Amino acid sequence: MQCSWKAVILLALASIAIQYTAIRTLTSKPFQLCPLPSPQNCGLGGQETEPPFERGTAGGGGCDDYPYFSINATRKTHILVLATTRSGSSFVGQLLNQHQEVFYLFEPLYHVQTTLIPRLSHSRNAADRRVMLGASRDLLRSLYGCDLYFLESYIKPTPTNHTTDKLFRRGASRALCQQPVCDAFGPADVNVEEGDCVKKCATLNMTLATEACREKRHVAIKIVRVPEIGDLRALVEDPRLNIKVIQLVRDPRGILSSRIETFRDTYRLWRIWRATGRRPYNLDLSQLTVVCQDFLSSVSTGLTHPYWLKGKYMLVRYEDLAKNPLLKTKEIYDFLGLPMDKNVEDWIHANTRGSNEPSAKHKFGTVRDSAANAESWRLKLSFDMVEYTQTVCQKVLHQLGYKAVKSVEELKNMSLSLVQDKTFVPFL
Ligand SMILES: *[C@@H]1O[C@H](CO)[C@@H](O)[C@H](O)[C@H]1NC(C)=O
Ligand SMILES: *[C@@H]1O[C@H](CO)[C@@H](O)[C@H](O)[C@H]1NC(C)=O
Ligand SMILES: *[C@@H]1O[C@H](CO)[C@@H](O)[C@H](O)[C@H]1NC(C)=O
Ligand SMILES: *[C@@H]1O[C@H](CO)[C@@H](O)[C@H](O)[C@H]1NC(C)=O
Repeated sequence: MQCSWKAVILLALASIAIQYTAIRTLTSKPFQLCPLPSPQNCGLGGQETEPPFERGTAGGGGCDDYPYFSINATRKTHILVLATTRSGSSFVGQLLNQHQEVFYLFEPLYHVQTTLIPRLSHSRNAADRRVMLGASRDLLRSLYGCDLYFLESYIKPTPTNHTTDKLFRRGASRALCQQPVCDAFGPADVNVEEGDCVKKCATLNMTLATEACREKRHVAIKIVRVPEIGDLRALVEDPRLNIKVIQLVRDPRGILSSRIETFRDTYRLWRIWRATGRRPYNLDLSQLTVVCQDFLSSVSTGLTHPYWLKGKYMLVRYEDLAKNPLLKTKEIYDFLGLPMDKNVEDWIHANTRGSNEPSAKHKFGTVRDSAANAESWRLKLSFDMVEYTQTVCQKVLHQLGYKAVKSVEELKNMSLSLVQDKTFVPFL
């Protein structure tokens, strides 16, 4: 009989899920017990295109938790900005954050890293990496389901009564600085500064934050702590999610230059190199090579169009965005399948080149003369640093269309752009 057949399968699924939940609860003690599965919430029907045997693999499927996903949830878009530090990701984050229908979070994985591997900010240790990635995927899944309580396990000190004032970069998330989450600003305050939000909004009530998330049509999360797209495969393939990955890349020479300015402690030896013209013997080269390796693996994966990324991956060069923010942002929204709203457009006008408003704040490197800014590293790095970067990052520079320079004159001559025209058509 059809019906009992289905019942048997559902029972089997449920028991697998309960076991998985039990194992997870044992192995990851601080986490809450996941609610019992309910079959109608598993997005089994949905508009899935993946073959059924792909489900439930690699930590993907199974009806283990996430009670907030309904059949409708497949229509919710789960946007992931995959980036690295100083690649212009705050700017891209803002392009999503400004949208009325988007709930945006700025790098929640910060909390995972500081809890799991506190002292190793760029651990290459394979075991650490696996732990970090597994935990990151679990957290991202929960957050896409608007389960913000899940994040509390990682926040130090542990939130009491579901409130905290330690959420990393809370002020970068518009929804967390607005009513009903924060009463300090009214509807007229359209552009609340991050610092003002943190100062004026009281402690963050995670229950209210959760509600704010559920009220938005879409969830966008920016991360800089996952090395490459392949690490996210289980998430991308998860049938309960509707993930769209925007991978942001930037010329590694620009990233290096920007990091030298920003991370004054960790990039101290690079500054010494720049100032003295001599490369310190104990320079941590991995600070540069890791960026290039990660880009290379990601981009190589993305551009070979594996079926699991179909319709779910878009590669964006920061320089293209800086050169033509409005056009590029429209392309991003087209890829996401969302209409771009007026808020986003207004924000671009106010924060990029073309803004005549003297009060426009220079919060983003991209602000104002964004196109020139994207290549300003050329005036800051020395030729031998550039040459060195070109050697270790040769392949990825070529793949992404960044031109190598052969002389100081070429490097400093800003009338020739080092960004070659190159179109990365999203794989649809
Ligand atoms: C699904 O979404 C549609 C439109 O957004 C809504 O009218 C409908 O009630 C939803 N169905 C469920 C089961 O939530
Ligand atoms: C948490 O809430 C309970 C009950 O409302 C209260 O007694 C307790 O003091 C609160 N804890 C903190 C740390 O605010
Ligand atoms: C947080 O918000 C919820 C929902 O409004 C409320 O019930 C709860 O009391 C608030 N928590 C605190 C500690 O104020
Ligand atoms: C800079 O490049 C342009 C275009 O190739 C060239 O015409 C110009 O002479 C160069 N300027 C200098 C100072 O080398």
